[in-house]
Amino acid sequence: MRQVTKLSHGWLFKEDFSDKYLTMRKSEDFRGDSFKEVSLPHMTREIPYNYFDEKMYQFISTYAHQLDITEHHRGKRVFVDFEGVMGYAEVFLNGELLHTHKGGYTPFAVELTTYLNFAGENLLVVKADSTERDDIPPFGNVIDYLCYGGIYRDVHLRVVEPTYIDNLFARPKVNLNGPSSLETTVFVNNAAPQSVNAQVKLKLSYQGETVATKETTATIDAAQETKVEVAIHELKNIKLWDIDVPNLYQLEATLKINGEVQDIYHTRIGFREAIFKPEGFFLNGRKLHIRGLNRHQSYPYVGYAMPERVQKRDADILKYELRLNLVRTSHYPQSIHFLDRCDEIGLLVFEEIPGWQHIGGAEWKEVSYNDVRAMITRDWNHPSIILWGVRINESPDDHDFFLETNRIARELDPTRQTGGVRCHRLSEFLEDVFTVNDFSHSGGEIILDTQKSWTGLDHQVPYMVTEFNGHMFPTKRFDQEERLMEHALRHVRVQDKAAKTDEIHGSIGWCAFDYNTHFEFGAGDRICYHGVMDMFRIPKFAAYVYSSQVSPKEDPVLEPVTLWARGERSIGGVLPLVILTNCDHVDIRLAGQDFGRFYPAREKFPGLEYPPIVIDHIPETGEWGSTWFDGEFIGYHEGKEVVRKRFIKNPVAAELTIKADDTQIYADGQDATRVVFQAVDQVGNPLPYLADFIKIELTGPGEIIGPSEVALIGGCVATWVKSTREPGTITIRANSTRLTSETIRIESTRHV
Ligand code: GAL
Repeated sequence: MRQVTKLSHGWLFKEDFSDKYLTMRKSEDFRGDSFKEVSLPHMTREIPYNYFDEKMYQFISTYAHQLDITEHHRGKRVFVDFEGVMGYAEVFLNGELLHTHKGGYTPFAVELTTYLNFAGENLLVVKADSTERDDIPPFGNVIDYLCYGGIYRDVHLRVVEPTYIDNLFARPKVNLNGPSSLETTVFVNNAAPQSVNAQVKLKLSYQGETVATKETTATIDAAQETKVEVAIHELKNIKLWDIDVPNLYQLEATLKINGEVQDIYHTRIGFREAIFKPEGFFLNGRKLHIRGLNRHQSYPYVGYAMPERVQKRDADILKYELRLNLVRTSHYPQSIHFLDRCDEIGLLVFEEIPGWQHIGGAEWKEVSYNDVRAMITRDWNHPSIILWGVRINESPDDHDFFLETNRIARELDPTRQTGGVRCHRLSEFLEDVFTVNDFSHSGGEIILDTQKSWTGLDHQVPYMVTEFNGHMFPTKRFDQEERLMEHALRHVRVQDKAAKTDEIHGSIGWCAFDYNTHFEFGAGDRICYHGVMDMFRIPKFAAYVYSSQVSPKEDPVLEPVTLWARGERSIGGVLPLVILTNCDHVDIRLAGQDFGRFYPAREKFPGLEYPPIVIDHIPETGEWGSTWFDGEFIGYHEGKEVVRKRFIKNPVAAELTIKADDTQIYADGQDATRVVFQAVDQVGNPLPYLADFIKIELTGPGEIIGPSEVALIGGCVATWVKSTREPGTITIRANSTRLTSETIRIESTRHV
């Protein structure tokens, strides 16, 4: 039976590689050679928040791990599964090269079986080449993001029987008017030199209750992989997976030979029908306009090397804070934890292969073909994924190349459509969905161009805008108020236009979070300030364009785009005053007096379910040299006050707030949670121009990721607190030169 152990700890790491390391057989030898102990996920070198040389983490490094192999493993097959090593890896066991892998975003398995040493040590060494090798996508030219370095995802030791299940592809077939069915392909791998007769049994369950089972027998060929097809028909009363109620089913496949269980394989699936047609995108027969943002999987200080909880949190932010229905995993396959969470919460995903504008030579393309295969065979059971991106983002046409990436995708997964993101007009349409980055809007009248202007076709096709805004209007969270307003309005205008234009089936803005980038991009400080949230996932005003697209019954949103200051804007005042809200109307009080009632700009932005309120005229606020006053905004829904927001005329730094995403984490030396520190005024509003520094104090079994003395960036900063392997209470507080936060507690408990 399969045994899977996470290899998170006990890795020895050094920032170089030498052949000498391949002759070393014991961890002590590595320690003696100044290797230091690290845990996964790991980045080759921590980076500062900004203004660093991106070459600093791009080098060849060595990771060594002593494996715990005993007699118990004899007769079994032993693998090491890597979820992601940036960008080229060579894997050695006891000095022997067993495997090479190109591509930092795709998983790979290394079989150790016949190389294991049962009489002594088993030393696994990974040579990780995190340089930007131009034989591997996305490298070969400039790229607007960083690819960080190291073994930045989890690694597992997997022990299975000689005949085991390698993968399972489930194809739920939804019948919206009758019983559904489930087709599966079970990939059975047999190391034996002779074929075997096996039974494969499927068990489908929902919340622990068995829904259906099906058994089949098959001959498993000698020394290779055999595909066993098992289908379950007549599935009645199947609960659909949808964005509102994402019902998930558990699927278990049991492999038996001569009645003896060899392997049990688990996966999770959802029954849903997702299809782009020329007239729109349909989820379970219902037309759904897609509203999304692009996500890079990067974080301050440690790049990609964030654990499960932090990855999942991003999905929650996109779904519950930004109220999106889709995320594009720009520009590569992202963490499996992130995708798992998308399944669990009903967030649709457009996943794509690694690449950025550049197409390399034949060797490079081979890696790209493999990326398509690896992405699809890793992720094909996620109901959240509705589209495979099989073009290199924004690359020029390359007929043969993209014909082949499309062919591979369709052959491997006939249940999903392909897309491929382009930015050149009239590019060849080899995919099922025409996905295009339309950056037409630069503040003027033009919002999005027509479908025909991009496709050149005389008929309507499935069509989605996969990027807009971004570099057209980079905006920092602490930028001047007029810029923040225009940033928000550009998201309003494009989302509105896309939603009211029949031929556009969705629009995905650039982007969710600011990200570190190469010097050729961004603000020169290695940050692209294109997010509606910053790198710490703290909202800019534009975030509320998205947050407000939810019923006020669920979450009333009222965010006037202003710092409420007399002289912040050009010439002064706060006009035009844009209020991002889902309220039916908002009443404004100035200096304690009723000023008026204001309604959303429905005629102007009919595409948005909850358009903003735009106020052009408040007499007292427009002139330089007059007095200033407190403001109060009261939001109503169905005649009742649902939310109130106060602004004070004379803010001072009153409090340093501290807030953790979680009050409990696991004491596994890997888990982490975000802690946000924000300076606020007397009524709790942020103070974006407070340039103080804070000292973060932590006691107990935890560590701060990144520096513990940091400047507030736009009055606010966050850090991630990581557990150690000791359970206990972690306490955190921060002091600035002027303020001290409360002390908060995070319990770090054993994983059960
Ligand atoms: C696009 C590109 C993105 C990002 C964006 C900035 O061209 O696909 O990765 O660079 O521009 O707006």
